[in-house]
Amino acid sequence: MPTARPLLADLEPLLQTNFLGRVTRGYETVGSTNTEAMQWARAGAPEGALVIAEHQTAGRGRLGRSWMDTSGQGLLFSVVLRPALPPDRLGLVTLAGGVAVAEAVSTWTAPVEPRIKWPNDVLIDGRKCCGMLLESSLDRDPFVVLGIGLNVNQDAFPESLADRATSLRLETGRLIPRAALLARLLERLEVWLDRLAAGEATSLREAFAERMVGQGERSSVRLTQSDEPVDGVIEGIDETGALRLRTGDTLRVLHAGDVTFQPAPTHSPSP
Ligand code: BTN
Repeated sequence: MPTARPLLADLEPLLQTNFLGRVTRGYETVGSTNTEAMQWARAGAPEGALVIAEHQTAGRGRLGRSWMDTSGQGLLFSVVLRPALPPDRLGLVTLAGGVAVAEAVSTWTAPVEPRIKWPNDVLIDGRKCCGMLLESSLDRDPFVVLGIGLNVNQDAFPESLADRATSLRLETGRLIPRAALLARLLERLEVWLDRLAAGEATSLREAFAERMVGQGERSSVRLTQSDEPVDGVIEGIDETGALRLRTGDTLRVLHAGDVTFQPAPTHSPSP
């Protein structure tokens, strides 16, 4: 039963989008906003429909991981999209999400600029403040659901996460107005989705590349949680949003995965 009206009520007067977030379902507690949005999309949710919750009991992350939250402190939401893109270019939607989040977040973190770790982890000073999960159904009446988990006003993380996770509050020392942040984020996302729809993927790839961490760095990419990592040097992203990773003479093009950076090799002094 949708209930979380206050955040949505605060959002409504601030929102300047045409289609993103114009039809909404808000929950105080839900299993996963992505699961709800997938079900709603199958039942005919319109383009841009937004599902948002204050707390998830079964929040899902990429590569089979879970996404934990502190109730009411972050932004947990999913949008239903029906992009007119070939299936091999749907990764561009995730890039759009990463750039939109980084742009919205930068309104509050300036002069610190958020960076993006491919495909879509948004980092501030090397710590993750946001993750995204893109899920799709490509049979009849295709759609994608872009789920975003953004750490906003958390003032601490469990010890196991503290060196990797952050929130906007921890970075800025201020409480951030979540509705204003969400409005800005949806506006920026709509701008990039409109550009993609107009066939302007190049400007998106450029905006992503400007913020991407790891270009030219030695990295390991784990394609699924159980796979052996693939090691190489990141050369950039291709026209579909995939990662170009060079291992010796081989250029691998990776459409999904999780990047970790490797320390530069240490050279022992000559005898
Ligand atoms: C990741 O970094 O692994 C992706 C995390 C995505 C989490 C968000 S929270 C809102 C939406 N609902 C979910 O179950 N997952 C996404």
